[in-house]
Amino acid sequence: MRTFLFLFAALLSGILPGVQAVEPVVVNTGSLSMVFTVAEDGKVVFNYFGDKIEDTGSFAGRKYKEQPDNGTGYAPVLYPAYGGRYFLHPALKLTHMDGVQTTELIYVNHTSKLLDSNREEIVIHMKDPLYPVFVDVIFTTFRKENVITQSVEITHKEKKGIVVEQIASGYLPLHADDYYLTHFHGTWAAEMQLVEEKLTAGSKRVESRKGVRATQSANPSFLVSLNGPAQEDTGEVYGGSLAWSGNYLLSFEKDECGILHVVTGMNDFASAYHLAVGKVLKTPEMVWTYSSSGQGQISRNLHDWSRKYALAHGDQLLPVVLNSWEGAYFNFDEQTITDMIDAAAGFGVELFVLDDGWFGSKYPRNSDNAGLGDWHENRTKLPRGIDYLASYAVNKGLQFGIWIEPEMVNPDSELAKKHPEWIVKSGKRDIIPMRTQWILDLSNPAVQDFVVNVFDGVMALSPHISYIKWDANRHVDNFGSDYLSSSEQTHFWIEYVKGLYKVYDRIRAKHPDVLIQLCSSGGGRLDFGALTYHDEVWPSDNTNSLDRVFIQYGTNLFFPAMATAAHVSTSPNHQTGMLAPLKFRFDVAMSGRLGMELQPKDLTPEELPFAKQAVENYKRIRPLVQLGDLFRLKSPYHENGWASHMYVAKDQKEAVFFAYSLKYHGRTAFFETKLKGLDPAKKYRIQELNRMGWPGFYGDGQVFTGEYLMKAGISLTIGNSFDSTVLLLTEE
Ligand code: DGJ
Repeated sequence: MRTFLFLFAALLSGILPGVQAVEPVVVNTGSLSMVFTVAEDGKVVFNYFGDKIEDTGSFAGRKYKEQPDNGTGYAPVLYPAYGGRYFLHPALKLTHMDGVQTTELIYVNHTSKLLDSNREEIVIHMKDPLYPVFVDVIFTTFRKENVITQSVEITHKEKKGIVVEQIASGYLPLHADDYYLTHFHGTWAAEMQLVEEKLTAGSKRVESRKGVRATQSANPSFLVSLNGPAQEDTGEVYGGSLAWSGNYLLSFEKDECGILHVVTGMNDFASAYHLAVGKVLKTPEMVWTYSSSGQGQISRNLHDWSRKYALAHGDQLLPVVLNSWEGAYFNFDEQTITDMIDAAAGFGVELFVLDDGWFGSKYPRNSDNAGLGDWHENRTKLPRGIDYLASYAVNKGLQFGIWIEPEMVNPDSELAKKHPEWIVKSGKRDIIPMRTQWILDLSNPAVQDFVVNVFDGVMALSPHISYIKWDANRHVDNFGSDYLSSSEQTHFWIEYVKGLYKVYDRIRAKHPDVLIQLCSSGGGRLDFGALTYHDEVWPSDNTNSLDRVFIQYGTNLFFPAMATAAHVSTSPNHQTGMLAPLKFRFDVAMSGRLGMELQPKDLTPEELPFAKQAVENYKRIRPLVQLGDLFRLKSPYHENGWASHMYVAKDQKEAVFFAYSLKYHGRTAFFETKLKGLDPAKKYRIQELNRMGWPGFYGDGQVFTGEYLMKAGISLTIGNSFDSTVLLLTEE
């Protein structure tokens, strides 16, 4: 009876158009399904996210434990708004124009359209039955990659406007006996440090309130493993990553029913958004994937998806780089740079990048104290300008790239004197410097124009510039904008990032082919929102190879190796003082996008031929590292002190294997592992690369079946600190 009355009333009010509402709404990829049903009261129930399920009809009758007094049930919904029985961290919280604090969302209809043969968009439209507030939850499915993105749009017709205090991109309810959360913490030079913890009753929040360079101390990417810690090849694991370069909040709340509520999106901290009638507020996208066979498949799904949809040129191999920073810092002249280019050409480097220090005249950028904002060549340092250096590189057969940090300004700069109103500040409070610099207010369209012009102007310095390194070396403290009105100050966090994305859009429209590195003092913008406009990230300013094993491990759980710039630097390492053999440094860097970050003339005559050969070897394995499937074999986080992984070609004809000894293992412990991802029926010849001294592998040059390698495995001779082995497997 209750059902009938509701449906009758709903039909009259236009809430439920026909029977469509009672059919499950299914969001499918090639191997995954999300299933939603519309309950009798119009709520959209979140029934399922997991392996693809054909029998979705059975969800219609599914019963959830009921609340004692009103029978509405504990069924989790698609998008929980604060109101009714929802008392947990909500996906949506707003204040209506009459001051009412609650919202209810009920189903209106849903639509779907094929975007192309691989992608479908499914939108579930909902509204508040009492207020003219409309919420669309938008899913895009990626069939082959088994990724689903989710975003939310809110509009309304409340004349005086509403205040949106919380609007998440994603909500995921899970029900299992135990939940294990993998997330990342860190700091400058120690980014993407993995931690896995069992979630207990209550809340766990992972968030950033730094606004800019928001991912340096934590990342908006996570795994939730059900019923045990995440394993590589077994067990149910959910992977999520928010595509947003500003403040974010990931909330994991285990409630009294044992359900885990995962709410992910922009951070609600100081972010009340006054939404005028007729305006739309759209959230960033939440990127979801799932695997019932461990976290390895989560990484491979996201890597495939990134190469196709989240990198500017994810189908192109990236060049081997020499970056000038650690080799020259600010202390260079024309000759220093041409010497580096000469040396780079000598050992097979393909792209030279001139880092910080090339600009500023009244306030020359000879240290980090001055010049940021004044993007003209320093002719005292470089009398023939950038074009001379870029042409020099091109004549030597190298591409040329250059560093910029266009969102920032030093107080000692012409720009800071000319446009004090462009600087992020909190009213009349002093602006706190960091690395002696301030931030330009990208919520202001005039600043957006300025940044676009900086990019255009730098590109115009030479027709030979084909790569830009985009840096951002501080976060926001004491936020505020001279451009936004007093009631819009809390829009700053959102408008800054939207302004940044508008800038990126304009730049990419004009410069579609240029390679752009997402640097942000290393790891500061490691998110799928910014990455979409870029080709690679600089994951850390820490180039110490031992630390890089961990940083690259964390980064590559979500982001692909091709986008992970990994540079061989000098020893002792400039950040840590640690000594490491050149072979270990190369073997670690070669499992990402290989580059060098040193003064080539510091390489000894014995080291030079090794470096040259290693660069050649990298070119041989580059398609595997950059475009292949990642299989992790040993985690550096295991107390055993080994790390190992491999990349396998999509056709399984070739693979490359890396193993690192992270500590001294004594005389008896030895490395053994089973390989993964090979074709058991194929035969592979194994050849050791970058060999120096003792062989790292007993069977160098021999042929083995894929079956043997995956079932019986291989053992290595390595065991001292900084021993490492790289093996190339080719089908016979
Ligand atoms: C921070 C970057 O991460 C470094 O690679 C270098 O570009 C410096 N900034 C330059 O100031």
